This record gives sequence, structure tokens and C-alpha cells, in this order.
Amino acid sequence: MSKSASIARVTGEEVLDSRGNPTVQVSVVLDDGSLASAAVPSGASTGKSEAVELRDGDPRRYGGKGVLQAVRHVNEVIAPALTGLPADDQWRIDATLIELDSTDFKSRLGANATLGVSVACARVAAQVCRLPLFRYLGGDDAHLLPVPMMNVLNGGSHGNGGPDIQEFMLVPLGAPTFREAIRYGVETYHALETLLVERHATTNLGDEGGFVPQLLSNVAALDLLMQAIERAGYRPDEDIALALDLAASSLWQDGRYRLELEDRGLDAAEMMELCQEWATRYPIVSIEDPLVDTDWDGYAQLTGELGDRIQIAGDDLFVSNRAFLVRGIARRCCNCVIIKPNQVGTVTETLNTARMALSSGYSCMVAHRSGETEDTSIADLAVALNCGQIKAGAPARGERVAKYNRLLTIEGALGEAAEYAGRAAFDRRR
Ligand code: PGA
Ligand code: ZN
Repeated sequence: MSKSASIARVTGEEVLDSRGNPTVQVSVVLDDGSLASAAVPSGASTGKSEAVELRDGDPRRYGGKGVLQAVRHVNEVIAPALTGLPADDQWRIDATLIELDSTDFKSRLGANATLGVSVACARVAAQVCRLPLFRYLGGDDAHLLPVPMMNVLNGGSHGNGGPDIQEFMLVPLGAPTFREAIRYGVETYHALETLLVERHATTNLGDEGGFVPQLLSNVAALDLLMQAIERAGYRPDEDIALALDLAASSLWQDGRYRLELEDRGLDAAEMMELCQEWATRYPIVSIEDPLVDTDWDGYAQLTGELGDRIQIAGDDLFVSNRAFLVRGIARRCCNCVIIKPNQVGTVTETLNTARMALSSGYSCMVAHRSGETEDTSIADLAVALNCGQIKAGAPARGERVAKYNRLLTIEGALGEAAEYAGRAAFDRRR
């Protein structure tokens, strides 16, 4: 990178996410004229300790969801502080953002402001270094294409009228390449649509592009996926396994897990039994957020019981935050961490959490948010980490498909060097 490539201009603006809510987009221009931008996603079933997504709260604009304040922070607070810094010093850029904010959860500037700047800087620096983003972030060894965890059936807060369980994912781990994995997943997604049409069920889509069928139970959704896999000509387990995100914090009501569809409430022990039962009856390789995010003891117990067979992934529990993960590792809670950059607010902090997880024998699943944009940086992040897993929704809707398309491009560009993570990503005997 030429010595002169330092940050010349940082500009934020308010744009829209996939739910039509305002979000932050940032453009960074260097003094050699290079330009790149990034846009920030937004969650609906958010963990309590996520970094703060700053919203204006002005009811006259977008129902209070405007982000003009965060945009102002980019333009008036962050831009002057970053101007002149070398663009390829990501650590220093992020340290500056953290110091400018100087709160534990980015509540002053907003993690939507800091992340937009952080990712845009990484992107423009990669460009100046003439490297794809995954290589700029991950170095020479970045070569592993993640298993796409395709959320083809949506419920909970992402699919009104659907199952209580938030995400039912296809895991095409038996495919030989990422490109083939995408084909396995897409063909099964279309087979699922055919099944729903045959049953005169609705084929409306939820926030992450999966179908939102009205079913009689949550198990019915699992059965439907098994049928779709077979209908598409694949073998459950060998070719395509399943994964769930229970998003249990959103089921938690008055000390019980409420399953509306089945009109029953489960206590923690019953919830753990349900996980055991499903993991035995179905080829499930990963269960995310099976318990409420305050139940660390429950997580330790469940991980002890099930963790050698399947992946127990912590999303709301860890909120991609290194300090929370350290606590989880000490208490043996979960064996996988969900990695969402906007839960912490900078690229450096995101990488630190993921690397801590990987070096402690935890797996990482890089993840989108239910409110997304056309930004594809998480695809590069997954390859940069060589972590082997990404969830970016169903193979439908532009903002979801964009991530999978980016990974197809990365696989093509890597050529012979590309390796598909496949089943090894879920090997619990590591
Ligand atoms: P969110 O959901 O993006 O709405 O928070 C995703 C998840 O819970 O994994
Ligand atoms: Zn989750």
C-alpha cells in the first residue's frame, strides 16, 4: 500500500434496510482517491447486552427509528478524528472509535455509527492493497468456504403466524464444494415450496426469506424439512442436516418457555429435554440459543449433556462480546459462538471475539441480521476466519442472496486453493 493512502473523508448517510427501516451507510475516501462504503444491519430478536444501535426516537420520522443522530456522529465526531490516519491500520482506526465512544456498549456514538465506519475503512484499505476483503482481514491462509446454514422456515419474531421456533435451517454439509452446497440448499428450498403448495399452505416469506407456514406444531416444521430434503433427492444427514435457532429469550415469559402454537409452557428442564429429543429424532447438528440468555447454569448443563454430540451455539448469551465469551468458556457454556459484527461495533472487536473462540476450541458461525442490506462483508469475514459456518438466511431476497453470491465469487477466485468446510465444521471430537 502506498504511504500516502490515508483517510481523507468519512461520510455517513441514512439509507434503508430490508425491512424498510433506516440504517447507517458510510463512505470512506482516501487521499489517493480510493473509495469504499459499508452499510449496517439491524436485529429484531436482539440480545440484552448487544452494543447500542442508536435510533433518534423522534416519532415524526420513521416511527422513531431514524438514525440521523448516528449519521451526525459519523460526520461530525468520527470523521475529524480519523482524517489523516493510515487506512490500513485497522487496529488504530478501531481503537480511535472505541476511545471516542468511551462507553462499554457504544452508547455514545452508536454501534451503527462505529461499525459502518470500521467496515468501510477495512474495505477501502483492502482495495488499496489490491486484496479481496477476506484476504485483507484473514491473511494468506484464508481459504475455507463456510457451510451455508440456510434458514428456509421462519417463525418467532421473524415470521408472524409461523412456528414459535425462530429459525429452521438446512445444512448442506455433505456437498463437495460451496457451489454444490448452495445448489443442494436451493433445490431443497424449492422442494419445500412445492410441498407447501400441494398442501394449500401459504408460501409467504419471513424476514430472512424463509417460508412462514401455519403449522400445528413445531415438530411439524422439522418433519416438513425432512420431507423437502427427500423430495429434492437428497439424504437427510448424509447430504443435508438441520440446524435450529430457538431464540429462547423471545419465548421466555413469566419463568417459562411459551410455545404458543402448542399452547404450552416449558420450564428449563423440559426445554433441555425437548432439545435432547429433537437431537435424537432428527439429524440436527446445531441448536442456537436453546435457553434464555440469563441462564448460564442451564447452558453449562445442556452443553455438558449434549455438547459432545451437537453444536450448542450462543448468540444472545455472548452477543459477539469477548468478555461474555470468556465467562462462557470458563463455565463451559456452549461450544459455538454466533459472530455478528453489529453486536460489538468494530471489525477488530469482532475478529478478537472470533479468534478467542477458535483458539479455545469453540466453533464460530458468522451471521447476518434479520434486517439486512446489500452489504456482503460478513461473507468475507467468514472466509477470513476460516471458521466454516455462515448463516445468511434463505436463498431468497436480494440482501440474503448477496452474501451467498459473494461466497460463490470468492470460491471461484480462490480456485484450487478453495476448500469447502463441509461436515468437518461440525466435528465435535476436536
Ligand atoms: P435478529 O435474529 O437478527 O433478528 O436478532 C437473528 C438471530 O437471532 O440469530
Ligand atoms: Zn440467534
